[in-house]
Amino acid sequence: MRKILITGGAGFIGYHLAQHLLQNSDVELVLVDNLRRGRIDADFQNVLDNPRVKFLALDLTKPDSYEKLGSGYNHVYHLAAVNGTKLFYEMPHEVLRVNTLSLIYMLEWFREKNKEGKFCFTSSNEAYAGGLNAFNQLPIPTPEKVPLVIHDTHNPRWSYAATKLVGELFVINYAKMHNFKALIVRPHNFYGPRAGYKGHVIPDFSERIMARADPFPIYGADDTRTFCYIGDAVRAMSMLMDSKKTDSQPIETVHIGDALEITMKELAERMFDVVDWRPKKLDIQNGPIGSVKRRLADTSKLRAFVEWTPEVSLDEGLRITHDWYMAHPDPA
Ligand SMILES: NC(=O)c1ccc[n+]([C@@H]2O[C@H](COP(=O)([O-])OP(=O)(O)OC[C@H]3O[C@@H](n4cnc5c(N)ncnc54)[C@H](O)[C@@H]3O)[C@@H](O)[C@H]2O)c1
Repeated sequence: MRKILITGGAGFIGYHLAQHLLQNSDVELVLVDNLRRGRIDADFQNVLDNPRVKFLALDLTKPDSYEKLGSGYNHVYHLAAVNGTKLFYEMPHEVLRVNTLSLIYMLEWFREKNKEGKFCFTSSNEAYAGGLNAFNQLPIPTPEKVPLVIHDTHNPRWSYAATKLVGELFVINYAKMHNFKALIVRPHNFYGPRAGYKGHVIPDFSERIMARADPFPIYGADDTRTFCYIGDAVRAMSMLMDSKKTDSQPIETVHIGDALEITMKELAERMFDVVDWRPKKLDIQNGPIGSVKRRLADTSKLRAFVEWTPEVSLDEGLRITHDWYMAHPDPA
């Protein structure tokens, strides 16, 4: 059997990654989460009902949690973090504390107890987004090797980016000095069912569509993003972890994302088409301060390492996601 640990296992990516990995009958999973954001809802309970899954409710900012993790994992996916743009503004000090502390403890545990395995750290496109704002000359599509920049230390938005920037340095240097296999992935706007509620653009649009909001608010209407369906995204993550090409030193940093760049306004229009309803009027608002105008990942490295192409089109993914949100309205 292959033993795999996922921290943040009850969260958005963790849940979908667990489901994906369980398709292999030789995989045993340990999922860790403090349930700060992740929830034991019916979807997650389905995963927990699998006899090859063990769940540990642990807070990874507490040193004594690590005694309960055990050892002997082939792969460790460290996803646990405080995530979500709204929280960057509301509790930047917690974003900094939780994300950095849990990563340091994880790496200390890993080098002591699990050095023979391979470690995956989920960084973010936020780590370089400040550079797109600060220097208008970064290449788009943006490759992994651009400088990582904190645009404004006084803008709480960059608290999260700072944890990913310093997190990458921790993982690179721990893997080098303690000689273990590791990989850094930078997700670019993964979306799909169970992605959380407030503060994520697609769930927000779904909620406004369900409420028939008219005029329909769109923040940062001309800002562009790409959106990668979660099933495709977790497949890319596990293919990269399985690939021997990402086993060597110095460790690799790899962008995961889709190539279709669209504006927030176009995204809303696509969703109106998918649900066959549109408001009479749009209410165009500025994006939050520090919001990045344009973001498109260069994913050539991903494609050089593994034979991956997205299988779910944006329209299909939006349909699946909106249907899920209709069936699961915000419990708050
Ligand atoms: N979703 C995306 O598109 C995206 C983009 C860039 C980066 N990421 C990164 O990927 C990872 C997973 O993201 P996600 O979208 O699944 O986020 P999420 O918030 O849904 O999941 C994170 C999980 O970590 C748990 N957690 C938080 N603090 C913890 C602690 N101290 N101890 C144990 N568990 C804790 C939360 O309860 C939550 O279930 C994060 O590190 C995030 O920064 C995600």
